[in-house]
Formats: sequence, structure tokens, C-alpha cells
Amino acid sequence: MFRDDERTRVIEEVGGLARLGSLAAELASESGGERVMLVSDPGVAAAGHADRAAGVMRAAGLEVALHVDVAENPSSDDVAKAAAAAQAFGPALYVAVGGGSAIDTAKGANFVEVCGGRMEDFRGHDTATAPLRPLIAVPTTAGTGSEVQSFALVGDGETGAKMACGDPSAAPRVALLDPELTLTMPRRVTAMTGLDTLAHAVESAVARPRDPSTDGRSREYGCAAFALVSAGLPRVLVDPGDLEARTSMMRASALAGLAIEHAMLGVAHSMANPLTRHHGVPHGLAVGMTLPHVVRFNAAAASAEGVAIRDTYAALASAAGLRGADATELAERLASRCAELLECAGLGTGLSDLGVTPADLPELAVEANQQWTAGFNPRAVDPDAFEALLTAAL
Ligand SMILES: [Fe+2]
Repeated sequence: MFRDDERTRVIEEVGGLARLGSLAAELASESGGERVMLVSDPGVAAAGHADRAAGVMRAAGLEVALHVDVAENPSSDDVAKAAAAAQAFGPALYVAVGGGSAIDTAKGANFVEVCGGRMEDFRGHDTATAPLRPLIAVPTTAGTGSEVQSFALVGDGETGAKMACGDPSAAPRVALLDPELTLTMPRRVTAMTGLDTLAHAVESAVARPRDPSTDGRSREYGCAAFALVSAGLPRVLVDPGDLEARTSMMRASALAGLAIEHAMLGVAHSMANPLTRHHGVPHGLAVGMTLPHVVRFNAAAASAEGVAIRDTYAALASAAGLRGADATELAERLASRCAELLECAGLGTGLSDLGVTPADLPELAVEANQQWTAGFNPRAVDPDAFEALLTAAL
């Protein structure tokens, strides 16, 4: 399911955390040292995962410094603190154990520690001025896909706007997927990260490819991820201890993350940023609530910008076993399945449930239109189109 030629080697194994010692020792020695900067967050540390990770690496002869001062939506200030800790320690390797925040903070610290400056200096892609240190990502949620991506998403210290900072060498060398680590996720986090994975799979499958040489791969990964989420998300919401379904969700997160790596995202993500910033709507809910409407909006065009939108949506639906007479019907089945999954989450079905009002929409639409993800949506958008989408999602 995961191609061998990706930058990140994906290892999926129940109980796989036990292998972290040997994997870390191998990469640290390749990098010429034995010091590991372990980045985690307070919640994950409280669950005991950070100590277990440190323990297996120390047992493998490595020296480990633990940094858990990581915020939920990390800013360049959080990155600066982690980078300062790393500069004092001198790691050969970074290991991130946690959700997207810990993984992105580790990537950001890697940029700043190795290249100097501040996170703001590394906006865009191919921005590292020297090869970064190797990183092993050990996700404890199934959602962001950061474990397989070369980008760190970090908030601008002054404006709070999300910056995407990327470099090929920032991609984790190894993503160690141990589904047991996701068993401790609260239901709300399981639901929101699951909806985020869903949106990644569906949006990246039809996004305009960032790298034409890998055209088609985002569709392939997106279809595989959507099928896993469609079957797995309702199961983990009903039974958090369902390890098989947890495995599906974790695999889906990484597959959808790779789909983004090849093709970026679309307008559900463009709307999510201002919804989170101005109204505190959690990211997963913001994309989950807008996604069904985005699918219907895009599917109104059979194709655009060289992307076969309706056929790709039909492929996503078919991959998950949904039935329809033709591509138009299958695309509608995809939209309604996305709405069903949102309903399963039980966290509201429209933005008005979260306090967003019609008067808020014009400003949100203008800001959504300025997000860089809007440029990757297969159908062209403008503030009026965003206002119509937000109205539908209200
Ligand atoms: Fe997302």
C-alpha cells in the first residue's frame, strides 16, 4: 500500500514502539552521534508514551533529552524554545512522539537548530540551507499525516497565521506507526482527527498535483485512505479499544498524508484556517463540516485544471464499496458518506452549532480565498464561491 520510493519509510506494527531503540540507534550512528532530541507534548507524556520511548532508546545505548514544552497549535515561539534546547544538547537525531503538534515542532526545531534564524525564514519549500538531521516520527493520533510529510505547519509568532515550512530533508526518515499508542486518545480527539484524515483523503485525491512526476499517486493513496476511514471511523467511535479499526485509521492517516505530500489540499482546508482563528472551530470539525459541500461544489464540474474531478470522486466512492449508476451518482454518494461520517462523530453537523452566524461569513470568505490551499482546488474559487460554501455548511 505504501510505495517503497517515498522519502519516509513507513513501519506499521502493533507494539512497534519497542523497535524504536534499534531504529534510532541506526539513524543516530549514521548521523555520527548518539544523542537524541525527543520532542513530545504534555498530554502524551502524561499518558506515559514519552517515557517509554526514552526508555527503549536509552536501553539501546542512546543519550536522550526530552522536550515536552509543546503547544497544541505550535507557533514559531514554541519552535524557538525547542531549537534552543536542541542547540544546547547537540542531537544527532530527532524523535517526535505525539500528534501533529509534536511532530511539527520537532521539524521546526530541526530547521532552526541546523540552519539558524527563525521559523518564519523557512516558509515555502526547499528552504533549508543545509541538510537537516534525521527524524523519526511516532504518531500517537491518527489524523495529521505529518509523520510522512516534508512540511511543518507552524503559526506565525505575531499574526498566528499558519505557515507551511518545508524541505525534502525535513520529511521523517521513518514513520513508526504503532496503533496501540492511539488507544488512549479521547473520543473527541479520535473523532476530530478522523474527520481531518477523511478531508485529507478526499481533498488531495482531486487537488492539482504539486509534483507532476507523481501525478496519480495522490488519487491512489486518497482512495485507499478513504476506504479505510469510511469503514474504520464508525468502528473506533463505537469501540475505542478496537485495535484492528485503530490500525486502519492510523494507516489511513499516513496514506492521506502522503497524498497531500504529492498534491496538496483544497478549499475545505482554506475555510478551516479562518474558522479556527476567528471562531475557535477545531481544525478537524471545520474541515469535516465543510467537506460534503466542497465535494458537491467540485463535482458540478466533470473536470477542471486537467483533473478528472467526477471520475476521481467516483473512484473514491467505489473504493469504499459505495454504489451508484454513474460518476455523478457516485460523487453524490461520496458527499453523503462524508456527511454521515460527520454525523457519526456526534460533534454537530453545521457551523451554526459552533456559534458561527451568517454575519460572520463575508469576512471568513475573503480570508479563506487568501489561503494558499485555495490555489490547489481543482475548481477555481473566489470570495463569492466561498461565501456560498460557508452558507451551505452553516
Ligand atoms: Fe487537515
